[in-house]
Amino acid sequence: MILVTGGAGFIGSHACVELINAGYDVVVVDNLVNSHEKSLDRVRQITGKRPEFVKADVCDEKAMDAVFSKYDIDSVIHFAGLKAVGESVQKPLEYFSNNLDASMVLCKVMRKHGVHNLVFSSSATVYSGDNEMPLTESSKTGNCTNPYGWTKYMSEQIFKALCVADPDLSIVLLRYFNPVGAHESGLIGEDPQGIPNNLMPYVSQVAIGRRDHLTVFGDDYDTTDGTGVRDYIHVVDLAKAHVLAIQYASGHKGCEVFNIGTGKGSSVLDIVHAYEKACGKKIPYVVGPRRAGDLATVYADTQKANKVLGFKAQYDLERMCADSWRWQTMNPNGFGD
Ligand code: NAD
Ligand code: UFG
Repeated sequence: MILVTGGAGFIGSHACVELINAGYDVVVVDNLVNSHEKSLDRVRQITGKRPEFVKADVCDEKAMDAVFSKYDIDSVIHFAGLKAVGESVQKPLEYFSNNLDASMVLCKVMRKHGVHNLVFSSSATVYSGDNEMPLTESSKTGNCTNPYGWTKYMSEQIFKALCVADPDLSIVLLRYFNPVGAHESGLIGEDPQGIPNNLMPYVSQVAIGRRDHLTVFGDDYDTTDGTGVRDYIHVVDLAKAHVLAIQYASGHKGCEVFNIGTGKGSSVLDIVHAYEKACGKKIPYVVGPRRAGDLATVYADTQKANKVLGFKAQYDLERMCADSWRWQTMNPNGFGD
């Protein structure tokens, strides 16, 4: 059985679908701080099977001990964490405490119960801002611009050190680029609370009429159209990478890092235009100042994941926008309906 922490969330719920489709039994632990249990009902609608669910905080060692005692867990995928960059600047203690405690408590309980395989949600945010593109797994890390980024960087250090100390451990660190889109069924997707921080959910709320217009954060970058370029990856592709990572972890020892992106950069205006095509409407936007901490261009070198995990993203920008729009129109208020 696979333990999926944070499995009720955006990426976690998509991973549950792919794990169940691949034949795995799944137990989700989530405290629902940024998600709804309804997402797991939707996983059942898609796959015919609802993951087992325990509402608990991963930082609660006693509760996690009980989960490992109750279920026969072979491997863990650790998505649980707080992820809002801006909020992490306002509430650094909450971010360090939640994200680092969760990683450490999980490792303690895994050790107690003899579970050795872990896949961790890291981020392209661990890369230093002064690298050449594309980013490879050996590009420089550190110099994070916010506490959220540091929690990912520090968690990586913790996992690497644990693998040095314990040769039985197998830990896969997946550095996600920009996950977007939704399951093709329109039943699960991203459901941000309040004003979306990220581009695609913001654009989709403009498209559905929840917001007037998008603000493009700067059009004077050194890119083809002056707007920021990122490596957007369909969340279903990303979810599938976790199935490959779990299979890899169960056959190898030590700590390995993989970039999970498409290897292709798209600008803010590329997203606006692709979304307009998907929804058949104009997306009004205004150009505002640059957002502090943003880089002009970020995209992945995906060769390592391709060679070692056999991972290659299948879905293009058109499909990411079409699936995002289907989710948005079927669930105009997310899971809160
Ligand atoms: P999400 O907020 O939708 O999912 C995270 C889940 O973890 C939520 O369901 C939340 O309720 C839960 N959670 C948080 N702290 C918890 C705790 N202490 N105990 C139990 N549950 C807890 O976010 P997501 O986009 O699905 O991201 C999943 C993971 O991927 C996160 O670790 C995030 O940092 C990482 N990541 C996300 C992105 C992105 O752009 N979405 C990019 C890189 C990395
Ligand atoms: N952008 C806008 N307007 C908006 C929101 C974003 O123009 O309202 C622009 C940004 O300036 C950037 C691009 O759209 O050029 C993408 O921005 P996102 O906020 O969607 O994504 P980021 O690349 O800034 O950051 C995301 C996650 C981080 C993660 C990083 C790398 O938010 O947590 O990807 O994985 F670390």
